[in-house]
Amino acid sequence: MAQKNSNNLMDKLSSLAKRRGYVFQSSEIYGGLNSCYDYGPLGTELKKNIRELWWKTMVYEREDIEGLDSSILMHPRIWEASGHVEGFTDPLVDCKKCKMRWRADQIETTEGCPNCGGELTEPRMFNLMFKTFMGPLEDAAHVVYMRPETAQGIYVNFHNVREASRQKVPFGIAQIGKAFRNEITPGNFIFRTREFEQMEMQYFVKPGSDEEWFGFWKEQRIDWYNRLGIKKEKLRFHEHSEKELAHYAKAAFDIEYEFPFGWSEIEGIHNRTDFDLSRHQEYASKDLRYYDQEANEKYIPYIIETSTGVDRLMLTVLVDAYDEEPERVVLRLKPQLAPVKAAVFALVNKEGMPEVATRLFENLRKDFKVFYDAAGSVGRRYRRQDEAGTPYCITIDGQTLQDQTVTIRERDNMEQIRINLDKVYPFLKEHIT
Ligand code: GAP
Repeated sequence: MAQKNSNNLMDKLSSLAKRRGYVFQSSEIYGGLNSCYDYGPLGTELKKNIRELWWKTMVYEREDIEGLDSSILMHPRIWEASGHVEGFTDPLVDCKKCKMRWRADQIETTEGCPNCGGELTEPRMFNLMFKTFMGPLEDAAHVVYMRPETAQGIYVNFHNVREASRQKVPFGIAQIGKAFRNEITPGNFIFRTREFEQMEMQYFVKPGSDEEWFGFWKEQRIDWYNRLGIKKEKLRFHEHSEKELAHYAKAAFDIEYEFPFGWSEIEGIHNRTDFDLSRHQEYASKDLRYYDQEANEKYIPYIIETSTGVDRLMLTVLVDAYDEEPERVVLRLKPQLAPVKAAVFALVNKEGMPEVATRLFENLRKDFKVFYDAAGSVGRRYRRQDEAGTPYCITIDGQTLQDQTVTIRERDNMEQIRINLDKVYPFLKEHIT
């Protein structure tokens, strides 16, 4: 039953996402491309708002974090040094009967295929990196990889960024960008896809201070979800056991969210020790040590990593915001995240109301993403905006023409207030930024 309800909610959410222009199946007119998605007008705005909030918190509000935008294709030796060529693999099994494919570490292989009980093949290790070729020759010497994480672009630029920004350890480098993984079992809508976007921050610290910084970033990151407006009781930490730890990590915590399909990771916080920089020092034959002037010593910094995904956070905020009431479906998105900040209506399309509404709309659109809607009854216009997550609807009515006041209707409690036309802009500024 729980599974059925969960599917129900995910189905409702994905159809709302399509209807309102949040998420479309990629290549839909060709039958779709498995686990790839396109983001429509509202989805694009929501992703942008999530990115901006993360960037503001991690880069603008801190003096010790710098930004970077490194390339997706990098020298293939990077992925040998990082351990991805050798170790970024999942064990794959196929059902001999129904041909379904599974990750052996996610099922009870002794019980046979979870779908039909059929016999499973022996596990084969499968590397998750997408490969392509650089230049016209398609041979082993020209293989390059689509990055499976943005982190490595940061490590190989550690000294470039440090020198250019004159930062001293401890300091961090933040990056937002696409990553690609040939996942064996993608799924749950945009939760696990083969192309996705990461927001990663690598914080370089003196060895010995790593555990303290690890604790610091753990707390900072879970607190950040308040700013996204996520319900506190839906978040928890999951500490990685020895068996779960990635090859580079000494300690790791996931921040998990309770999705309709169960508690699942939305962010990883890792103590990566000096693994990455030591390996790049070895594989590139370059001295990557940091000279600590105060202590007059050289060392390879330890790295504390915070890593989350834009697409996965978008799913998180949509699931968290989705609400059904007897009369309406409403997305209770935090105004700061909402794709459209306000909708402007003329109560009727005559008597000078559209002219006033259009003037207001033109004025607001200079600074806010606003929407002008003239179609259908006001009630229907409200419902459409509720479902899209628009926090405010502003209506120009007969009274506006007499006393220059408008109604502002709030999405969550549906209450209306009347304010002066010239107070609308400061109202939005106050409630949305
Ligand atoms: N650099 C460390 C790293 O990549 P990860 O735990 O593999 O760690 C971090 O990934 C985050 O990236 C995840 O918490 C998730 O938000 C996002 N992510 C990873 N794989 C993803 C996928 N296939 N689809 C969508 N998001 C993904």
